[in-house]
Amino acid sequence: MNYLENGTTQKLYEYGKTRIPAGTQLLSKRPEMFLPGYWPAYFSKAKDCECWDLDGRHYYDMTTNGIGACLLGFADPDVSEAVIKRVQDGSMCTLNPPEEVELADMLCEIHPWASQVRFTRTGGETGAVAVRIARATTKRSLVAICGYHGWQDWYLAANLGDIAALDGHLLPGLNPLGVPRELKGTALAFKYNDKQGFEEIIKKYGDTLAAVVMEPARYNDPEHGFLEFVRDKTHQCGALLIFDEITIGWRVNYGGIHLKFDVNPDIAFFAKTLGNGHPMGAVIGTKNAMDGANTSFISSTYWTESVGPAAALATLKKMKEVNVSKHVNDIGNSIVKMWNKYAAKYNIKIDTGDGYSALAHFKFVHESSNVLKTLFTQLMLEKGILASTVVYSTFAHNEKILGIYEQALDDVFSRIANILQDGKLAESLKGPEAHTGFARLIN
Ligand SMILES: Cc1ncc(COP(=O)(O)O)c(C=O)c1O
Repeated sequence: MNYLENGTTQKLYEYGKTRIPAGTQLLSKRPEMFLPGYWPAYFSKAKDCECWDLDGRHYYDMTTNGIGACLLGFADPDVSEAVIKRVQDGSMCTLNPPEEVELADMLCEIHPWASQVRFTRTGGETGAVAVRIARATTKRSLVAICGYHGWQDWYLAANLGDIAALDGHLLPGLNPLGVPRELKGTALAFKYNDKQGFEEIIKKYGDTLAAVVMEPARYNDPEHGFLEFVRDKTHQCGALLIFDEITIGWRVNYGGIHLKFDVNPDIAFFAKTLGNGHPMGAVIGTKNAMDGANTSFISSTYWTESVGPAAALATLKKMKEVNVSKHVNDIGNSIVKMWNKYAAKYNIKIDTGDGYSALAHFKFVHESSNVLKTLFTQLMLEKGILASTVVYSTFAHNEKILGIYEQALDDVFSRIANILQDGKLAESLKGPEAHTGFARLIN
């Protein structure tokens, strides 16, 4: 099977880009972020950690598996069964889904510090609801932020006046064009583990701070005492601490990762993994912190459909039953070991860091590291493997798939070593190198 042949999938994307500004609805699914001109833009079917494009070509997903949304794997049978039943019984009605009450109870049992829950469907809007509630509860406006929290105005406001303010928070160079300039100064970024930078914000703006919004961890544990420091300073100035668990939650342990650190926020929010691919988000909090949700108008039609809560109940039950976090961390560990083993075998310099193996990643240590990354993707794609320098493993990854990946990796690293040795890196790519951030696609 020729994986680089220009077929229906590529042609549809070339056309799709002229109809859909920015090409896709999510930057991280943009083919140009992987292999411009060749990466399959669309899928016809997805199951476990495998998928098929519109030309019937089969792939193993050794990337983010639905950008981290499907921790159990694509189309998990237990989640699908719950969803199909709900669809057959009617998923939308004039009345409300009773599943949301059971789900709220379950989330509060898993996070005993929380006693109230509001539901949403997507990640960015979940963060926006959490911030709105905090602003309404505290009757203050400013937020201090650390980490990535989505596309919404309240967050991108940090880049007004300084487009680099959010660099180092996952996605660099996010353009706040279209965000009202009047929001300038309402979102103040601080860096992870930077107590001093955080304290400066508190000293200057503490009186008007509604909330501190942060990912409690992204790739690594916090430095000793950092989260406690943030929590205490936040409370001293009368603001609320909000943890964004959208990506890290459930992966390292069952529930939010903050449970592992034993630092409770006032509000935490979840999306992605919660519905294992079905839209579902939740904002959980203490009764006091959530009070603003009684008075601020926070209301949306599709937050009342039933598929999301049904999927989330099935997902949470299964993730606990199968100990999904142990499985994905074991798989991730094996992958990191493979990267190091074959990099050493072929004398390729890489850095795998020391982060959570559930979000395994490596970097080519080379002056043309992005070209090497693109080449790696190209060579793996030729073998029917979707690959980049990150793997968010799932419950569906198993020894057999690891074996297929290992064999491919051995060959691809050996070819990369030969290309480097022959000084042929520049001409090795069949197209342009991968984009590294948000960029205009067509004029
Ligand atoms: C920590 C975090 N918060 C918020 C979001 C935004 O979620 P969504 O893309 O569903 O809007 C993401 C997405 O990657 C995320 O990783």
